[in-house]
Amino acid sequence: AALLVINGPNINMLGVREPSIYGTHDYHYLERLCQKAAREAGFATCEVFQSNHEGDIVDKIQEALGAFDGIVINPAAYTHTSVAILDALKAVALPAVEVHISQVDQREGFRRISFVRLACFETVAGLGLEGYAKAIRDLAAHIGLG
Ligand code: DQA
Repeated sequence: AALLVINGPNINMLGVREPSIYGTHDYHYLERLCQKAAREAGFATCEVFQSNHEGDIVDKIQEALGAFDGIVINPAAYTHTSVAILDALKAVALPAVEVHISQVDQREGFRRISFVRLACFETVAGLGLEGYAKAIRDLAAHIGLG
């Protein structure tokens, strides 16, 4: 099975951006964490994609149809604004898990709203980068890997 991990805007700034919220590990560390978790969960392949551009994320989700078996997505700030990303996830109808590094429910009020959540079977938030590993394991179980 093939896994696609999608990260939205500013996730490439991990380690630099607000380390008290997002930690001190960099984006490369996150990529390796996802690769390892995917391997251990039984995925044959794992692509880790990042973009700061909403339309590029929509394109990537559309291209996932027929190419990937599931999606783990941290849409970052687009979580709270993007009907386009929600609609793309609904269009391809691949099993998807929403991840947030921080505890989005305990921050500013605007971070409590998630459009993308409506197309995901689970949300993982507030576990730091380890949340990606949990999301990947839960996706594997959901599609019957292992
Ligand atoms: C985030 C939470 C979002 O509110 C924020 O805009 C991000 C990262 C998280 O992983 O905690 O960029 O998705």
